[in-house]
Amino acid sequence: MNQIDLPKLFNLEEKRREAKFTNGFYQKDILSVDQFDRESLSYIFTRTGEMAEMAEMIGACDLLAGYTLACVFYEPSTRTSASFIAAMERLGGRTIPITQGIQYSSVSKGESLVDTMLTLEKYCDVIVLRHPEIGSAATAAKYCSVPIINAGDGAGEHPTQALLDLFTIRKELGRIDGLRVAMVGDLRYGRTVHSLTKLLMSYDVSLRFVSPETLRLPLTLMNNLINQGIDVRESDKVENVIADVDVLYVTRIQKERFTDLAQYEEVKDFFEITTDLMAQAREEMIVMHPLPRVGEIHYNVDKDPRAAYFRQVHNGMLVRMALLAAVLGQA
Ligand code: NCD
Repeated sequence: MNQIDLPKLFNLEEKRREAKFTNGFYQKDILSVDQFDRESLSYIFTRTGEMAEMAEMIGACDLLAGYTLACVFYEPSTRTSASFIAAMERLGGRTIPITQGIQYSSVSKGESLVDTMLTLEKYCDVIVLRHPEIGSAATAAKYCSVPIINAGDGAGEHPTQALLDLFTIRKELGRIDGLRVAMVGDLRYGRTVHSLTKLLMSYDVSLRFVSPETLRLPLTLMNNLINQGIDVRESDKVENVIADVDVLYVTRIQKERFTDLAQYEEVKDFFEITTDLMAQAREEMIVMHPLPRVGEIHYNVDKDPRAAYFRQVHNGMLVRMALLAAVLGQA
């Protein structure tokens, strides 16, 4: 039987020796997309490509054997938590998942975030944290000595989602520069929109923002875009942009962030992506969604080859494999 010499194939031994000192991510917290520039993105995406090859050829390897990841989720999650766990396990590492059951932990007894994190870091080498408060990951990082990866801090940021979104755009369309990207939905509270928009600022793109009046992109972010000279336009109808865009990035209205549910009711059915609407879109474009969707993309759009959201999910695991390996000094 042909044995694949994986370390030789990917030149792993040499990379491991070098990585700790050169990758720029070793032992670093990943809190915001502000930490990334085109060079570091290109590094992560190259490593992601290698992870894709490895996963396709042999499924799993032992790159992170001996390392443990704690996944701590104070908010619901399916994809982010499962993909981090899958990523760690495919690389031979171990996981402590504290996800759906946080209400059964000492948090329910009133333990603070910092105490919980200072405890969990004694059991692991890296922590992935999702928490409803903006800035929570940064607070944890201030006190903890193991790297903290922000998996969503309230309506703030979701940097690893933005990495996988950008990776997906590049993989699907072959480039990022020159593209016209429309963000649709809850632009005010949607943290994936905030992070992806910031990342796209490093590229030569045009941006279209489609939302109800009450859920427009935060003003500071909009002003940053304008000051950078990026071509931006706002609209309240998908019909106004769909024919001209390369990427339609759809998001759900973030019900849990509304203090007044009556306001949510007013906007919840703001738009729907249907096959009729897709008939107006270009042949070479993609529809993305960080998921979960709650009605904003009709199920029969899934058959359209331009619907990229489940391919996006797969990329999420691969990007997180690359990031975990980089943070632990093994890629
Ligand atoms: C997103 C999130 O949690 O911000 N989901 C995800 O991580 N894929 C988007 C959302 O919840 O709407």
